Amino acid sequence: MTGIDLEKIKATLLADVAKSDTPQDVLRSPAFKNMYSQIGKLEPSERAAFGKAVNDVKVAVEAAVHQKMTDLEDKDVNTLDVTAPWDVNAGAPQLLSTSQGTQHPLTREIEEVVDIFTRMGFAAVESRQIDDDFHMFGALNFPENHPARDGYDTFRTEEGFIPPAHTSTMQHRILKDGKDALKHDEPIAAVSYGRVFRNEDVDATHEHTFYQVEGVFVSDDATLGQMLGTLRSFFETYYGQAVKIKTQPAYFPFVEPGLEFAIEKPAALGGKPGDWLEMLGCGMIHPNVLKMAGIDPTKYRGFAWGGGVERLVMLKYGIEDLRHFESGKLAFLRKFV
Ligand code: PHE
Repeated sequence: MTGIDLEKIKATLLADVAKSDTPQDVLRSPAFKNMYSQIGKLEPSERAAFGKAVNDVKVAVEAAVHQKMTDLEDKDVNTLDVTAPWDVNAGAPQLLSTSQGTQHPLTREIEEVVDIFTRMGFAAVESRQIDDDFHMFGALNFPENHPARDGYDTFRTEEGFIPPAHTSTMQHRILKDGKDALKHDEPIAAVSYGRVFRNEDVDATHEHTFYQVEGVFVSDDATLGQMLGTLRSFFETYYGQAVKIKTQPAYFPFVEPGLEFAIEKPAALGGKPGDWLEMLGCGMIHPNVLKMAGIDPTKYRGFAWGGGVERLVMLKYGIEDLRHFESGKLAFLRKFV
């Protein structure tokens, strides 16, 4: 017939597919294409049978290419590349066969807290993890060299930046962003949330890294009573039960008057009457803070509050040691799955 041995060509092509990392190239190779060019050289009577034989080879090689490509894809996801973005590794069978990860309990609870405030009409913005002296102190009415600055045990980078020691670093930004809304008779209402850092010795109730949530509200007639109502409503929603509240005077340069806000530990969470837990700092925004953001304190008034997330969560779940949160211990984290 043609003098070409299709069986031999088929065997060579299949071997090529088997050893190639790009098996589809075999379908474009000269050896593959040559089979077709032979058809035209044949006697018309031979063409049909030869064409059919070539087609059989083609089908077999294509099937092998397809199979090889699938195998290569599987191999790719079986190889866990720790430097790859998550979704590249997500389908790897060895990951699926271990347990799936979940949100960190603090992430989940912060979402819950922010959700409660957004349902009350507050916007939400994440705080920065590196900030400057102005937003940490200056914009918040801390005089230069004032001892109140020392109370925050702030870290500083060599360049003088500050990993924020409280989410109040966001107040000035929220006020400036919102001041046009005030002119249209809309209040400023926003919460900020995020990581804060203090140069603290770590023990069961102190961490150098923790989370805060802060609220800012400004309108032409904001009152301390509105603030207390907002906070009580938040705590009652978060804990799902009636909560008693109490305040006592406290000093923060950025509020006047300034208060410490406590709740009575609910009986359902193991509390006895008189078990007061200090939850946050709050007060009416100091006129200087409003002024620095370009808001006229004779026309507008505001309140602000801010406090740690961990203590909220510890009370809700009866967690006794703050250090669990940053420990990365799976036995602890799995309790929240
Ligand atoms: N930023 C203060 C702190 O972390 C808390 C606070 C926020 C007090 C807002 C008053 C108003 O100690």
